[in-house]
Amino acid sequence: MGETDFSTLTSKNIVGFLGDIFERCGGEEYLGEPVTMAEHMLQSAHFAEQANEPETVIVAALLHDIGHFISEFGTFSMEDVEDRFHEEAGAEVLEQFFPKLVTDCVRHHVAAKRYLCATRPAYFDRLSDASVHSLNLQGGPMSDEEVVVFEKNANLREIIKVRHYDDAGKRADMTTRDYSFYAPMIQRIVDVHCKGIAV
Ligand SMILES: [Fe+2]
Repeated sequence: MGETDFSTLTSKNIVGFLGDIFERCGGEEYLGEPVTMAEHMLQSAHFAEQANEPETVIVAALLHDIGHFISEFGTFSMEDVEDRFHEEAGAEVLEQFFPKLVTDCVRHHVAAKRYLCATRPAYFDRLSDASVHSLNLQGGPMSDEEVVVFEKNANLREIIKVRHYDDAGKRADMTTRDYSFYAPMIQRIVDVHCKGIAV
């Protein structure tokens, strides 16, 4: 796949762009889990919906791992010399079009795991084997200092919720809605955010 020029993204084509990613890359396996990446993200959105979350949280759950694919699509600036972390890559592309609540949930979903492991011992016991493995690569549980900083985020509650929907979305043989069901919801959030902004 060639490099994508992210500067061509607008509030009118971002929803289609994200849908293309789901379609083209969503079948990839989620390493160590019994779901594909698309199934994982759709399941996460499903659990957010089931919990009667607002649309911003449902969409954050749906898009939380999109950076896995965006980083394969190209780099973001000429200064980039190496791969970015996937959560950062996702948030960077989304932040032009989505409110901070959504991008914070995307940006911090890995940090939220490290936070919960540090502050809620029972949480660690519920993690899948693959998630424990990646936790170690991601720096392990947060230090006390990191916890203090993390708790300052105004969207902490939503970040933690999306993390729980992320953890829940790893079920084999579960039927979910597809991306097209969520497309109008995503567009609504983009339109509200971009209202009056020329993007
Ligand atoms: Fe995830």
